[in-house]
Amino acid sequence: MNNLYKHHKPKNRSDSIALAFTKFLRFIADTFFRKKYGHRAVVLETVAAVPGMVAGMLTHLRSLRKMEDDRGWIKVLLEEAENERMHLMTFIQVAKPTSLERFIIIIAQFIFIIMYSLIYLISQRTAHRIVGYFEEEAVFSYSEYLKELETGRIKDQPAPKIAIDYWNLPLHSTLKDVVRVVRDDEAGHRDVNHSFADVIDTKVKPKSEIKTDKEQIKDAQTLKENN
Ligand SMILES: [Fe+2]
Ligand SMILES: [Fe+2]
Repeated sequence: MNNLYKHHKPKNRSDSIALAFTKFLRFIADTFFRKKYGHRAVVLETVAAVPGMVAGMLTHLRSLRKMEDDRGWIKVLLEEAENERMHLMTFIQVAKPTSLERFIIIIAQFIFIIMYSLIYLISQRTAHRIVGYFEEEAVFSYSEYLKELETGRIKDQPAPKIAIDYWNLPLHSTLKDVVRVVRDDEAGHRDVNHSFADVIDTKVKPKSEIKTDKEQIKDAQTLKENN
């Protein structure tokens, strides 16, 4: 539970841009949905399932172009997209989007897929950091949703069958249980994407900061001598 509300403190300009972008979108979502958590989940999950697929496809294409191993990233990213799509398939059983929301979903997908692809091509690390911050917000939003369900302000209901099957939940599970497992998924995506951004950070360190093999061996020898 301690890991639930982890926050990555911005360490450079790329992080700050990613966080500002996330907070801006959060503000729009908060203004539009207010306390309509079911509708919020449906609309935002249609967006949340995009980055994994875009990042997976672009990493796949780069692996082909550069004839380079992907270090298992493609599978992780495509699984993230699939998991987010299952969140959507679940919440569509809970809240039916209005005509306006359906229209927003179409426009948002068009804009977001172009925007995220461009960000990914320009700065892969920023793109992963953005998803890390999106997921921090998702954890926060699902906690708010859960609180509404626990206090009875939103009526709990039996978990949709698709959710029981997908997460292997007990048959008597309710929406509260579903929100909890979805929130755990979001926390997982948050950690994966923040760590992807961190890995890229270490790869793009200025040459002066990266030690050569000879320097590393010398360091090890000095350490040995000192002990
Ligand atoms: Fe999600
Ligand atoms: Fe997510």
